[in-house]
Amino acid sequence: MGFCDDVKAAAEQIAAAEEVTIISHIDADGISCEAILSQAISRMEIPVRSVFVRQLEPLTMPQVPADSSLKIFSDLGAGQQNLMLDRGFSEKEILIIDHHVSQPCERPYTQVNCLPYGYTRMSAAGVSYLVAKELDGVNTDLAGLAVIGNVGDMMAREKCGLVGPARDIIVEDGVRYGSVEVRRKDLNCYGTATRPLHLSLAYNDDPFIKGISNNPEGARQFLKRIGVRQQAPDGRWYVWEEIPVEDKRTIISALAEQMMANGQKLDRLLAETYGFPFETPRTPLRNAQEYATMLNACGRWSKPQTGGAILRGDRGSAYRDAEHMLNNHRAIIRDLLQFIIDTGVKELENLQWLHVGGRYPDTIVGIGAGMALSRLNSSKPILIMCEVPEDRSLTKVSMRTNERVVERGVDLQQALNMASAEYGGGGGGHRIAAGAYIPKTAEQEFVQRVNRILGEQFAAAGTGHR
Ligand code: C5P
Repeated sequence: MGFCDDVKAAAEQIAAAEEVTIISHIDADGISCEAILSQAISRMEIPVRSVFVRQLEPLTMPQVPADSSLKIFSDLGAGQQNLMLDRGFSEKEILIIDHHVSQPCERPYTQVNCLPYGYTRMSAAGVSYLVAKELDGVNTDLAGLAVIGNVGDMMAREKCGLVGPARDIIVEDGVRYGSVEVRRKDLNCYGTATRPLHLSLAYNDDPFIKGISNNPEGARQFLKRIGVRQQAPDGRWYVWEEIPVEDKRTIISALAEQMMANGQKLDRLLAETYGFPFETPRTPLRNAQEYATMLNACGRWSKPQTGGAILRGDRGSAYRDAEHMLNNHRAIIRDLLQFIIDTGVKELENLQWLHVGGRYPDTIVGIGAGMALSRLNSSKPILIMCEVPEDRSLTKVSMRTNERVVERGVDLQQALNMASAEYGGGGGGHRIAAGAYIPKTAEQEFVQRVNRILGEQFAAAGTGHR
Protein backbone atom coordinates (compact mmCIF):
# COMPACT_ATOMS: atom_id res chain seq x y z
CA MET A 1 0.00 0.00 0.00
CA GLY A 2 1.32 3.43 -0.92
CA PHE A 3 0.17 6.92 0.01
CA CYS A 4 -2.12 7.08 -3.08
CA ASP A 5 -3.80 3.85 -1.98
CA ASP A 6 -4.42 5.37 1.44
CA VAL A 7 -5.94 8.45 -0.19
CA LYS A 8 -8.20 6.19 -2.28
CA ALA A 9 -9.22 4.12 0.76
CA ALA A 10 -10.12 7.30 2.64
CA ALA A 11 -12.22 8.57 -0.29
CA GLU A 12 -14.03 5.21 -0.48
CA GLN A 13 -14.81 5.30 3.23
CA ILE A 14 -16.25 8.81 2.90
CA ALA A 15 -18.27 7.96 -0.22
CA ALA A 16 -19.89 5.06 1.63
CA ALA A 17 -20.87 7.15 4.68
CA GLU A 18 -24.46 8.03 5.49
CA GLU A 19 -23.45 11.08 7.48
CA VAL A 20 -20.16 12.60 8.59
CA THR A 21 -18.80 14.53 11.57
CA ILE A 22 -15.50 16.34 11.02
CA ILE A 23 -13.39 16.92 14.12
CA SER A 24 -10.69 19.42 13.24
CA HIS A 25 -7.99 21.52 14.86
CA ILE A 26 -8.46 25.25 15.53
CA ASP A 27 -5.36 26.44 13.68
CA ALA A 28 -5.07 27.63 10.06
CA ASP A 29 -4.30 24.11 8.82
CA GLY A 30 -7.21 22.55 10.73
CA ILE A 31 -9.64 25.26 9.62
CA SER A 32 -8.53 24.73 6.00
CA CYS A 33 -8.98 20.95 6.37
CA GLU A 34 -12.52 21.40 7.61
CA ALA A 35 -13.43 23.83 4.80
CA ILE A 36 -12.03 21.47 2.15
CA LEU A 37 -13.55 18.28 3.51
CA SER A 38 -16.96 19.62 4.45
CA GLN A 39 -17.41 21.30 1.04
CA ALA A 40 -16.30 18.16 -0.81
CA ILE A 41 -18.61 16.00 1.31
CA SER A 42 -21.67 18.26 1.01
CA ARG A 43 -21.17 18.33 -2.75
CA MET A 44 -21.85 14.59 -2.60
CA GLU A 45 -25.05 15.37 -0.68
CA ILE A 46 -23.83 13.55 2.40
CA PRO A 47 -24.95 15.39 5.57
CA VAL A 48 -21.88 16.75 7.38
CA ARG A 49 -21.28 18.76 10.52
CA SER A 50 -18.09 19.99 12.13
CA VAL A 51 -16.59 20.26 15.58
CA PHE A 52 -13.38 22.20 16.27
CA VAL A 53 -11.11 21.32 19.18
CA ARG A 54 -8.03 22.99 20.60
CA GLN A 55 -6.31 19.61 20.91
CA LEU A 56 -7.58 16.07 21.06
CA GLU A 57 -7.18 15.18 24.73
CA PRO A 58 -9.32 13.64 27.48
CA LEU A 59 -10.77 17.08 28.22
CA THR A 60 -12.00 17.73 24.67
CA MET A 61 -12.87 14.15 23.71
CA PRO A 62 -16.49 14.47 24.98
CA GLN A 63 -17.07 16.99 22.15
CA VAL A 64 -16.86 14.07 19.71
CA PRO A 65 -20.45 12.84 19.35
CA ALA A 66 -21.38 9.24 20.11
CA ASP A 67 -23.66 8.85 17.10
CA SER A 68 -23.63 6.71 13.98
CA SER A 69 -21.80 9.23 11.77
CA LEU A 70 -18.38 8.61 10.25
CA LYS A 71 -15.99 10.66 12.37
CA ILE A 72 -13.20 12.24 10.35
CA PHE A 73 -10.37 13.57 12.50
CA SER A 74 -8.38 16.12 10.52
CA ASP A 75 -5.04 17.69 11.49
CA LEU A 76 -5.20 15.65 14.69
CA GLY A 77 -5.96 12.10 15.75
CA ALA A 78 -2.86 10.24 14.54
CA GLY A 79 -1.17 10.73 17.90
CA GLN A 80 -4.33 10.23 19.97
CA GLN A 81 -5.74 6.94 18.69
CA ASN A 82 -5.83 5.48 22.18
CA LEU A 83 -8.39 8.12 23.14
CA MET A 84 -10.60 6.82 20.33
CA LEU A 85 -10.05 3.30 21.56
CA ASP A 86 -10.97 4.35 25.11
CA ARG A 87 -14.20 5.83 23.76
CA GLY A 88 -14.94 2.45 22.15
CA PHE A 89 -15.01 3.68 18.54
CA SER A 90 -14.80 0.91 15.94
CA GLU A 91 -12.65 1.00 12.77
CA LYS A 92 -15.73 1.63 10.64
CA GLU A 93 -16.60 4.80 12.55
CA ILE A 94 -13.23 6.54 12.26
CA LEU A 95 -11.09 8.10 9.53
CA ILE A 96 -7.91 9.98 10.43
CA ILE A 97 -6.50 12.56 7.99
CA ASP A 98 -3.32 13.88 9.52
CA HIS A 99 0.35 14.76 9.16
CA HIS A 100 1.47 14.37 12.77
CA VAL A 101 3.47 11.48 14.17
CA SER A 102 1.26 8.44 14.59
CA GLN A 103 0.82 6.53 17.83
CA PRO A 104 0.74 2.74 17.78
CA CYS A 105 -2.77 1.50 18.50
CA GLU A 106 -4.13 -2.03 18.83
CA ARG A 107 -7.19 -1.17 16.72
CA PRO A 108 -6.26 -0.44 13.08
CA TYR A 109 -8.16 2.78 12.44
CA THR A 110 -8.07 3.92 8.80
CA GLN A 111 -5.54 6.67 8.50
CA VAL A 112 -4.23 8.71 5.63
CA ASN A 113 -1.03 10.38 6.74
CA CYS A 114 1.74 11.73 4.51
CA LEU A 115 4.45 11.47 7.19
CA PRO A 116 5.18 7.70 7.12
CA TYR A 117 5.68 7.99 3.35
CA GLY A 118 8.41 10.57 3.84
CA TYR A 119 6.33 13.58 2.79
CA THR A 120 7.39 15.67 5.75
CA ARG A 121 6.49 19.00 4.21
CA MET A 122 2.81 18.59 3.57
CA SER A 123 0.15 19.63 6.04
CA ALA A 124 -3.16 17.97 6.85
CA ALA A 125 -4.98 20.44 4.56
CA GLY A 126 -2.77 19.06 1.78
CA VAL A 127 -3.83 15.49 2.60
CA SER A 128 -7.48 16.61 2.90
CA TYR A 129 -7.24 18.21 -0.53
CA LEU A 130 -5.88 15.02 -2.11
CA VAL A 131 -8.77 13.06 -0.59
CA ALA A 132 -11.27 15.69 -1.84
CA LYS A 133 -9.78 15.54 -5.33
CA GLU A 134 -10.01 11.75 -5.25
CA LEU A 135 -13.71 12.09 -4.33
CA ASP A 136 -14.34 14.31 -7.34
CA GLY A 137 -12.09 16.23 -9.75
CA VAL A 138 -14.42 19.21 -9.37
CA ASN A 139 -12.82 19.84 -5.98
CA THR A 140 -9.66 21.25 -7.58
CA ASP A 141 -11.28 24.64 -6.96
CA LEU A 142 -10.29 24.01 -3.30
CA ALA A 143 -6.52 23.86 -4.01
CA GLY A 144 -6.01 27.44 -2.81
CA LEU A 145 -7.40 26.47 0.61
CA ALA A 146 -4.85 23.68 0.85
CA VAL A 147 -2.06 26.12 -0.02
CA ILE A 148 -3.16 28.34 2.88
CA GLY A 149 -3.21 25.37 5.27
CA ASN A 150 0.26 24.26 4.19
CA VAL A 151 1.79 27.71 4.45
CA GLY A 152 0.00 28.33 7.76
CA ASP A 153 1.59 25.19 9.17
CA MET A 154 5.02 26.46 8.09
CA MET A 155 5.50 23.81 5.41
CA ALA A 156 7.07 26.43 3.10
CA ARG A 157 9.43 27.75 5.70
CA GLU A 158 12.44 25.46 5.65
CA LYS A 159 12.91 25.38 1.88
CA CYS A 160 11.63 28.94 1.25
CA GLY A 161 8.66 27.56 -0.68
CA LEU A 162 6.46 24.48 -0.80
CA VAL A 163 8.08 21.26 -2.03
CA GLY A 164 6.99 17.69 -2.88
CA PRO A 165 3.31 16.93 -3.55
CA ALA A 166 2.23 20.17 -1.84
CA ARG A 167 4.08 22.04 -4.61
CA ASP A 168 3.83 19.67 -7.55
CA ILE A 169 0.17 18.74 -7.16
CA ILE A 170 -1.60 21.29 -4.99
CA VAL A 171 0.05 24.57 -6.04
CA GLU A 172 -0.02 23.44 -9.67
CA ASP A 173 -3.76 22.64 -9.43
CA GLY A 174 -4.36 26.10 -7.96
CA VAL A 175 -2.40 27.77 -10.76
CA ARG A 176 -4.23 25.75 -13.40
CA TYR A 177 -7.58 26.60 -11.82
CA GLY A 178 -6.55 30.26 -11.72
CA SER A 179 -6.98 30.82 -8.00
CA VAL A 180 -3.28 30.78 -7.01
CA GLU A 181 -0.47 32.96 -8.32
CA VAL A 182 3.12 31.79 -7.77
CA ARG A 183 5.80 34.44 -7.24
CA ARG A 184 8.99 32.48 -7.71
CA LYS A 185 11.62 34.85 -6.38
CA ASP A 186 9.79 37.09 -3.95
CA LEU A 187 11.29 38.71 -0.89
CA ASN A 188 11.15 36.25 2.03
CA CYS A 189 9.15 38.59 4.17
CA TYR A 190 5.87 38.65 6.10
CA GLY A 191 3.09 41.22 5.71
CA THR A 192 3.60 42.07 2.05
CA ALA A 193 -0.09 42.93 1.52
CA THR A 194 -0.88 44.87 4.68
CA ARG A 195 2.21 46.24 6.38
CA PRO A 196 4.03 49.46 5.51
CA LEU A 197 7.23 48.50 3.70
CA HIS A 198 9.59 49.38 6.54
CA LEU A 199 7.54 47.46 9.10
CA SER A 200 7.43 44.44 6.85
CA LEU A 201 11.23 44.51 6.59
CA ALA A 202 11.71 45.20 10.30
CA TYR A 203 9.41 42.44 11.54
CA ASN A 204 11.29 39.89 9.49
CA ASP A 205 13.96 37.93 11.35
CA ASP A 206 14.52 35.08 8.91
CA PRO A 207 17.03 36.03 7.60
CA PHE A 208 18.06 38.34 10.41
CA ILE A 209 19.48 41.50 8.86
CA LYS A 210 21.48 43.70 11.19
CA GLY A 211 20.18 47.24 11.47
CA ILE A 212 16.85 46.30 9.83
CA SER A 213 15.39 43.24 11.61
CA ASN A 214 13.59 44.27 14.81
CA ASN A 215 14.42 47.89 13.95
CA PRO A 216 11.59 49.82 12.18
CA GLU A 217 13.46 53.13 12.23
CA GLY A 218 16.59 51.45 10.80
CA ALA A 219 14.45 49.90 8.05
CA ARG A 220 12.89 53.31 7.24
CA GLN A 221 16.33 54.93 6.98
CA PHE A 222 17.56 52.05 4.80
CA LEU A 223 14.68 52.55 2.33
CA LYS A 224 15.26 56.32 2.33
CA ARG A 225 18.97 55.83 1.67
CA ILE A 226 18.37 53.63 -1.37
CA GLY A 227 15.76 56.06 -2.74
CA VAL A 228 12.60 53.94 -2.46
CA ARG A 229 9.41 55.98 -2.09
CA GLN A 230 7.63 54.79 1.04
CA GLN A 231 4.52 56.94 1.11
CA ALA A 232 1.85 57.99 -1.37
CA PRO A 233 1.24 61.72 -1.84
CA ASP A 234 -1.67 61.50 0.63
CA GLY A 235 0.67 60.10 3.30
CA ARG A 236 -0.52 56.50 3.04
CA TRP A 237 2.30 53.95 3.48
CA TYR A 238 3.00 51.67 0.53
CA VAL A 239 3.04 47.90 1.01
CA TRP A 240 5.43 45.50 -0.76
CA GLU A 241 2.83 44.02 -3.13
CA GLU A 242 1.97 47.39 -4.71
CA ILE A 243 5.40 48.95 -5.26
CA PRO A 244 6.92 48.95 -8.77
CA VAL A 245 9.04 45.95 -9.71
CA GLU A 246 12.14 48.21 -10.09
CA ASP A 247 11.77 49.27 -6.45
CA LYS A 248 11.51 45.62 -5.43
CA ARG A 249 14.74 44.88 -7.30
CA THR A 250 16.48 47.87 -5.72
CA ILE A 251 15.46 46.71 -2.23
CA ILE A 252 16.47 43.09 -2.81
CA SER A 253 19.91 43.98 -4.21
CA ALA A 254 20.58 46.47 -1.42
CA LEU A 255 19.60 43.88 1.19
CA ALA A 256 21.80 41.29 -0.55
CA GLU A 257 24.77 43.69 -0.53
CA GLN A 258 24.27 44.47 3.13
CA MET A 259 24.05 40.78 4.04
CA MET A 260 27.17 39.92 2.04
CA ALA A 261 29.01 42.75 3.75
CA ASN A 262 27.98 41.16 7.07
CA GLY A 263 29.29 37.80 5.85
CA GLN A 264 25.78 36.30 5.78
CA LYS A 265 24.56 33.65 3.34
CA LEU A 266 21.84 34.83 0.95
CA ASP A 267 19.99 31.53 0.75
CA ARG A 268 16.98 32.72 2.79
CA LEU A 269 16.61 36.19 1.31
CA LEU A 270 14.21 35.11 -1.43
CA ALA A 271 11.29 32.71 -1.28
CA GLU A 272 8.54 31.38 -3.47
CA THR A 273 5.28 32.93 -2.29
CA TYR A 274 1.63 32.26 -3.11
CA GLY A 275 -0.84 35.00 -3.91
CA PHE A 276 -4.58 35.10 -4.50
CA PRO A 277 -5.08 37.52 -7.37
CA PHE A 278 -8.86 37.75 -7.08
CA GLU A 279 -8.84 39.00 -3.51
CA THR A 280 -8.99 42.71 -2.72
CA PRO A 281 -5.53 44.37 -2.80
CA ARG A 282 -3.97 45.38 0.52
CA THR A 283 -6.01 42.85 2.52
CA PRO A 284 -4.66 39.82 4.45
CA LEU A 285 -6.45 37.59 1.93
CA ARG A 286 -3.96 38.48 -0.84
CA ASN A 287 -1.29 35.96 0.14
CA ALA A 288 -1.18 32.58 1.85
CA GLN A 289 0.86 33.72 4.85
CA GLU A 290 -1.34 36.58 5.93
CA TYR A 291 -4.51 34.67 5.08
CA ALA A 292 -3.30 31.91 7.40
CA THR A 293 -2.66 34.41 10.19
CA MET A 294 -6.24 35.62 9.85
CA LEU A 295 -7.49 32.02 10.16
CA ASN A 296 -5.23 31.45 13.15
CA ALA A 297 -6.62 34.59 14.77
CA CYS A 298 -10.16 33.23 14.33
CA GLY A 299 -9.24 29.81 15.68
CA ARG A 300 -7.10 30.89 18.59
CA TRP A 301 -9.83 33.28 19.74
CA SER A 302 -12.48 30.57 19.71
CA LYS A 303 -14.18 31.36 16.39
CA PRO A 304 -12.76 28.82 13.93
CA GLN A 305 -16.14 28.76 12.14
CA THR A 306 -15.61 32.40 11.19
CA GLY A 307 -12.35 31.39 9.49
CA GLY A 308 -14.25 28.59 7.75
CA ALA A 309 -16.86 31.08 6.51
CA ILE A 310 -14.11 33.24 5.00
CA LEU A 311 -12.63 30.23 3.23
CA ARG A 312 -16.09 29.57 1.81
CA GLY A 313 -16.15 33.09 0.37
CA ASP A 314 -17.91 35.22 3.01
CA ARG A 315 -16.53 38.73 2.63
CA GLY A 316 -19.29 40.35 4.68
CA SER A 317 -19.93 39.94 8.39
CA ALA A 318 -17.53 36.98 8.87
CA TYR A 319 -14.72 38.97 7.26
CA ARG A 320 -15.39 42.04 9.40
CA ASP A 321 -15.46 39.86 12.49
CA ALA A 322 -12.15 38.22 11.46
CA GLU A 323 -10.51 41.61 10.83
CA HIS A 324 -11.41 42.58 14.35
CA MET A 325 -9.97 39.32 15.74
CA LEU A 326 -6.81 39.74 13.67
CA ASN A 327 -6.17 43.20 15.12
CA ASN A 328 -6.79 41.88 18.61
CA HIS A 329 -4.60 38.82 17.95
CA ARG A 330 -1.71 40.99 16.76
CA ALA A 331 -2.03 43.41 19.66
CA ILE A 332 -2.00 40.62 22.28
CA ILE A 333 0.91 38.84 20.62
CA ARG A 334 2.87 42.12 20.53
CA ASP A 335 2.08 42.54 24.21
CA LEU A 336 3.16 38.96 24.95
CA LEU A 337 6.37 39.43 22.97
CA GLN A 338 7.18 42.54 25.00
CA PHE A 339 6.33 40.69 28.22
CA ILE A 340 8.77 37.90 27.33
CA ILE A 341 11.54 40.40 26.50
CA ASP A 342 10.90 42.46 29.68
CA THR A 343 10.58 39.46 32.02
CA GLY A 344 13.48 37.56 30.47
CA VAL A 345 13.98 33.83 30.33
CA LYS A 346 15.84 31.39 32.56
CA GLU A 347 18.62 29.68 30.68
CA LEU A 348 19.46 26.03 31.19
CA GLU A 349 22.18 24.27 29.26
CA ASN A 350 19.99 23.28 26.31
CA LEU A 351 16.92 25.49 26.53
CA GLN A 352 15.54 28.76 27.80
CA TRP A 353 12.18 28.97 29.54
CA LEU A 354 9.59 31.10 31.25
CA HIS A 355 6.14 30.80 32.82
CA VAL A 356 3.53 33.43 31.94
CA GLY A 357 0.95 32.25 34.48
CA GLY A 358 -2.62 33.14 33.52
CA ARG A 359 -1.80 36.35 31.63
CA TYR A 360 -2.13 34.99 28.09
CA PRO A 361 -4.32 32.29 26.53
CA ASP A 362 -2.70 28.90 26.07
CA THR A 363 -3.58 29.01 22.37
CA ILE A 364 -1.15 31.85 21.59
CA VAL A 365 1.81 31.49 23.95
CA GLY A 366 3.71 29.36 21.43
CA ILE A 367 3.33 32.02 18.74
CA GLY A 368 4.74 34.72 21.03
CA ALA A 369 7.60 32.47 22.13
CA GLY A 370 8.50 31.78 18.49
CA MET A 371 8.58 35.48 17.74
CA ALA A 372 10.71 36.25 20.78
CA LEU A 373 13.41 33.77 19.77
CA SER A 374 15.35 36.11 17.49
CA ARG A 375 15.62 38.62 20.35
CA LEU A 376 16.85 35.99 22.79
CA ASN A 377 19.52 33.34 22.44
CA SER A 378 18.27 31.81 19.20
CA SER A 379 20.70 28.88 19.43
CA LYS A 380 18.60 27.38 22.26
CA PRO A 381 14.95 26.29 21.95
CA ILE A 382 12.46 28.27 24.03
CA LEU A 383 9.92 26.62 26.33
CA ILE A 384 6.96 28.64 27.55
CA MET A 385 4.41 27.54 30.14
CA CYS A 386 1.02 28.94 31.06
CA GLU A 387 -2.10 28.07 33.00
CA VAL A 388 -5.05 26.27 31.42
CA PRO A 389 -8.20 28.14 32.53
CA GLU A 390 -10.51 25.16 31.91
CA ASP A 391 -8.45 22.89 34.15
CA ARG A 392 -6.36 24.43 36.91
CA SER A 393 -4.53 21.15 37.54
CA LEU A 394 -2.93 21.36 34.07
CA THR A 395 -0.15 23.43 32.54
CA LYS A 396 0.20 24.12 28.83
CA VAL A 397 3.72 23.92 27.43
CA SER A 398 4.78 25.26 24.03
CA MET A 399 8.23 25.01 22.52
CA ARG A 400 9.73 26.70 19.49
CA THR A 401 13.12 26.67 17.79
CA ASN A 402 14.54 27.50 14.36
CA GLU A 403 15.84 25.58 11.33
CA ARG A 404 19.49 25.87 12.33
CA VAL A 405 18.83 24.18 15.67
CA VAL A 406 16.72 21.47 14.05
CA GLU A 407 19.61 20.81 11.67
CA ARG A 408 21.77 20.23 14.76
CA GLY A 409 19.59 17.30 15.82
CA VAL A 410 16.79 18.82 17.89
CA ASP A 411 13.31 17.34 17.65
CA LEU A 412 10.87 19.20 19.92
CA GLN A 413 8.03 16.84 19.10
CA GLN A 414 10.02 13.88 20.34
CA ALA A 415 11.22 15.75 23.44
CA LEU A 416 7.76 16.95 24.52
CA ASN A 417 6.05 13.74 23.61
CA MET A 418 8.50 11.67 25.65
CA ALA A 419 8.74 13.99 28.65
CA SER A 420 5.00 14.67 28.92
CA ALA A 421 4.19 10.94 28.73
CA GLU A 422 6.56 10.33 31.67
CA TYR A 423 4.53 12.78 33.79
CA GLY A 424 1.12 11.53 32.70
CA GLY A 425 0.50 14.33 30.19
CA GLY A 426 0.49 14.36 26.41
CA GLY A 427 2.21 16.29 23.69
CA GLY A 428 3.22 16.34 20.08
CA GLY A 429 3.72 18.53 17.04
CA HIS A 430 6.77 18.97 14.86
CA ARG A 431 10.55 19.11 15.17
CA ILE A 432 10.51 22.90 15.09
CA ALA A 433 7.31 23.62 17.07
CA ALA A 434 5.56 21.42 19.59
CA GLY A 435 3.15 21.61 22.48
CA ALA A 436 2.06 19.56 25.48
CA TYR A 437 -0.22 19.47 28.49
CA ILE A 438 1.30 18.33 31.78
CA PRO A 439 0.18 18.19 35.43
CA LYS A 440 0.86 21.56 37.10
CA THR A 441 2.72 19.82 39.92
CA ALA A 442 5.33 18.48 37.47
CA GLU A 443 6.39 21.86 36.01
CA GLN A 444 9.85 22.21 37.55
CA GLU A 445 10.90 18.60 37.02
CA PHE A 446 9.47 18.69 33.51
CA VAL A 447 11.67 21.58 32.38
CA GLN A 448 14.75 19.77 33.69
CA ARG A 449 13.70 16.57 31.95
CA VAL A 450 13.20 18.33 28.60
CA ASN A 451 16.59 20.01 29.06
CA ARG A 452 18.20 16.59 29.48
CA ILE A 453 16.39 15.11 26.47
CA LEU A 454 17.54 18.02 24.30
CA GLY A 455 21.08 17.44 25.57
CA GLU A 456 20.80 13.82 24.44
CA GLN A 457 19.53 14.95 21.03
CA PHE A 458 22.44 17.36 20.57
CA ALA A 459 24.86 14.66 21.72
CA ALA A 460 23.37 12.01 19.41
CA ALA A 461 23.82 14.38 16.46
CA GLY A 462 27.37 15.12 17.61
CA THR A 463 26.62 18.80 18.09
CA GLY A 464 26.69 21.18 21.04
CA HIS A 465 24.10 23.83 21.68
CA ARG A 466 26.32 26.68 20.51
O1 C5P B 1 0.07 24.72 20.93
P1 C5P B 1 1.29 25.04 20.14
O2 C5P B 1 1.09 26.24 19.24
O3 C5P B 1 2.52 25.17 20.96
O4 C5P B 1 1.51 23.75 19.22
C1 C5P B 1 2.59 23.58 18.34
C2 C5P B 1 2.37 22.35 17.48
O5 C5P B 1 2.31 21.21 18.33
C3 C5P B 1 1.05 22.35 16.69
O6 C5P B 1 1.29 21.71 15.44
C4 C5P B 1 0.14 21.49 17.55
O7 C5P B 1 -0.83 20.84 16.76
C5 C5P B 1 1.11 20.49 18.15
N1 C5P B 1 0.64 19.98 19.46
C6 C5P B 1 0.36 18.63 19.61
N2 C5P B 1 -0.05 18.13 20.84
C7 C5P B 1 -0.23 18.97 21.89
C8 C5P B 1 0.04 20.35 21.75
C9 C5P B 1 0.48 20.83 20.50
O8 C5P B 1 0.51 17.85 18.65
N3 C5P B 1 -0.66 18.46 23.04
